[in-house]
This record gives sequence, structure tokens and C-alpha cells, in this order.
Amino acid sequence: MSSRPHAIVIPFPAQGHVIPFLALSHSLVEQGFRITFVNTEFNADRVVAASPDKSGDAEGIHMVSIPDGLAPGEDRNNLGKLVDGYLRVMPGYLEDLIRKANESGGDKIKWIIADENMGWAFEVAKKMGIRATCFWTASAAMLATMLSIPELIRAGILDADGLPRRHEKFQLSPGTPSIQTTQFAWNRAGDAAGQRIIFQLVVNNTKLLELAEYVICNTFHEIESPVLTVFPNILPVGPLLSGQAFGKPMGHFWPEDVTCVEWLDEQPDNSVVYVAFGSMTVLDRSQFEELALGLELSRRPFLWVVRPDLTDETSGAWLDGFRERTVGRGRMVSWSPQQRILAHPSIACFLSHCGWNSTMEGVWNGVPFLCWPYFTDQFLDDSYICNVWRIGLSLNPDEKGIVPREEIKEKLEELLADEGIKARALMWKDAARRSVGEGGSSWKNLKSVVDAMRE
Ligand code: UDX
Repeated sequence: MSSRPHAIVIPFPAQGHVIPFLALSHSLVEQGFRITFVNTEFNADRVVAASPDKSGDAEGIHMVSIPDGLAPGEDRNNLGKLVDGYLRVMPGYLEDLIRKANESGGDKIKWIIADENMGWAFEVAKKMGIRATCFWTASAAMLATMLSIPELIRAGILDADGLPRRHEKFQLSPGTPSIQTTQFAWNRAGDAAGQRIIFQLVVNNTKLLELAEYVICNTFHEIESPVLTVFPNILPVGPLLSGQAFGKPMGHFWPEDVTCVEWLDEQPDNSVVYVAFGSMTVLDRSQFEELALGLELSRRPFLWVVRPDLTDETSGAWLDGFRERTVGRGRMVSWSPQQRILAHPSIACFLSHCGWNSTMEGVWNGVPFLCWPYFTDQFLDDSYICNVWRIGLSLNPDEKGIVPREEIKEKLEELLADEGIKARALMWKDAARRSVGEGGSSWKNLKSVVDAMRE
């Protein structure tokens, strides 16, 4: 009978979490692990529908799904609703899943690897006598800020609901990125009730972390050393990307339009502006149009990911006119194979919302950033990119909160002319690759956790 170490893996049910969890799972499978990967039923259906062979299977990974507690048509972008739904039903389903797997006679599940946002999974692990590792998919600085909440309340920076008492710049410690206190990740949950629910969840999850034996993070020591030195329990093991082996299924929720790679092949090296805002950003109609006009004004080739839900109208006469005016030098797709795109020699820069995965993917490829953060941790990432690592520039909105077309054009020109930014981006690219290469800092950390999980 085989005796592979068997771990059950459970990401937060969002695209920016499923992708890095699958990258970690692929790496564990390569190291001899058996992985059972838990999606919500809703997301599993999306992954199946988006995958080229309509199976959603990922080599060597056993994909399973459980309900998230919401009805089929309910809005899963409403964080309060999503959290309420999954807290009600998911713990019970996960317990069942583990119990059945462990009674089936195969390799017993000995470890849970869960998202920090799914703190309840650590309670399930404890109840069932299974060991737990936490995988934090954003920056160490973000996790460190959340772990510092009690001190921030004591210092009078936050009130008991996590709202800032004063509007000021906040920096965790020297060498870390600074943000406005209004930009804390948990400050954007809509109404006051929503704010309280999300803040409480954040606080509870950080407490539940004590049930995890390891906290691994999709970052690398060299790029976040000031934070990681103060928080040595956060183990950097990244960047974990599919980049080392394109073609592995990464659990995309939308079908990847790979024809844009052929289009990139026809563009000169270092010429294309890649524009993508991850899986959750929403632009209002006037901002969407202003961005299009900014790209038109720049006169540069661009590849722009326009998700079907990026704005309220992604088709129509106005957009047809824009397409006609930029034909030949502009390409719009509804979802790209982003990691392949960023590795392509024709890419000159990345106009990004600064989600952490996009940030690490840009760093991995030495691509300069034009930063346009939207919510949660993205302001912190923007500050890292522009102020700490100095590999990008921020776009500034006008007094109406709109980033005007001229700002887009001018910042693009400034960015692409800045040799210092390019040189630093290449330096961080080398550092990222060294960290995951044999003997590198992330490689060593992952090896030590993997060795422990084998026992
Ligand atoms: C969310 C949060 O918004 C982000 O701030 C947090 O750090 C993680 O969870 P998301 O907004 O989706 O993530 O952004 P990001 O973290 O950048 O993840 C998006 C992922 O989708 C990346 O891995 C990216 O490569 C992929 N992607 C995006 C594609 O493959 N194709 C696309 O067209 C766009």
C-alpha cells in the first residue's frame, strides 16, 4: 500500500487565493505529496467551465468541492454575505470530507493547509487531531499589520471597530511601506455593520492563527526583510507561481484567451503596455472610458484585460469606436494567461491594481509598474512598489476621484523613460529567482516545512 503524505488544502473562495494555493499544491505534488484541494461548489463549477477540456482537473491533485452556504444566484462579491454563508456550513462539510477520506483506507489526511482568511479550518483541524499550516497569499506586511491590531488600538490609531481615529500616514516600522490610516485593508466593507463584521473576522482569524504550526507566505525574504525580521514566524516561501511550468492548471474562473500571446509575438520587444486589474476591481463607466482614452492618447501598443464585470457596459457603440481607432495596436481580452503575458519580451510595463499576486508576478518578470490600487491590501502593495522597491509610479486621481487620460499618458511616458526603475525591476527579478532556486531563502523555508509535514 502506498504511503504518501496527504494534505487537504483550502483557499479562501476567490480567484486571487485559488491561484496561489494551486501553485503551492503543484509544488507539493512534485515533492511526493498527495493533495486534496477544496473549492466551493460555486467556484469549482466556474473552474470546470473555464478549463480548456471542461474538466477542471489538475494533474496529481484530487479536486473536491463543498457548498459555501449561499444560493446559486447570490452575490459572492458581497464579502459580508459570503463570510456569513461559509461560516455557517463549511466547517461541517470539511469535517465530513476529512472523516470519509480517512475512513476510506487510502493515505490518511494528516495536515490541513488553510488560508488565513479561513481561520475556522484550523478549528476543524484541532477538533479532528490534524496538524495545520496557514498559507497567507498576500504580503507579509499586510499580515503583520493585522497581527498588530491590538497595539494599534492601544496606541489610539484605531477604534474598537478598526476605524482610524486620525487621518495620517501609517508605517509599521522603518523600511516598511506607509499608507493612509483610511487605507487599512478592513476599512472598505461598505456600511458600518459590514465594517464591524469584517473587522471582527480579521481579528478572530489572527487569533486562530495560534492553532497553525507554520505560517507560510507568498513572498521572499529579501523583498520584505524589515517586516520579516520583526515577525520571524511568518515564513516566506515565494514567489510561488506557475511560471516555472506554464501549462499547469491554475484554477482560472474565466477562460484564458491565449490568442493574445500570438498577438504579442508580433509586437516589438519592450513595447506593450499590459493593463489588468485582477479579478475583483470594478471601474465606473466614466473611469473606464477615461482609461481607454488615456491608452489611445499614449499611442503605444496595449493589451487590456476587460473582464465581463470590470464595468457595467463592456460592449456598445462607444467601445466599438475606440476599438476601431486603436485597431492594430490595441488588443482587449476578457481574461489573459497573465503569468505568460508578463514573461513575454514584448511587455514594457504593467498598469496594475497591485493585487499581491499581480505584484509578485510583475516582480518575478522584472516588469515596471504603473499603480492603480482599488481596495484591501492594494494600497500597501502600491506603496511597496513606488516608495520602497522603487520599481513603479502611482497614478493620481483628480479632485473628482477620476484618473484623467492625460495623467495616464504622462505617467506612462515618465515610467518608460526611467532607466533607474528598469534597473531596479531587473535587480528584484534576479533576487526573486534566487530565493526560490535551490539553496535560496524561500527554497530553504519551504523545504523545512515540507520535511516537517512528511513526518
Ligand atoms: C485579490 C485581492 O484583490 C488582492 O489585493 C489580494 O492580494 C489577493 O486577492 P485579485 O484582485 O484577483 O486578488 O488580484 P491578484 O492578487 O493580482 O490576483 C489575480 C490573479 O489572477 C493573478 O494570479 C493573475 O495572474 C490572474 N489573472 C488576472 C489572470 O490570469 N488573467 C487575467 O486576465 C487577470
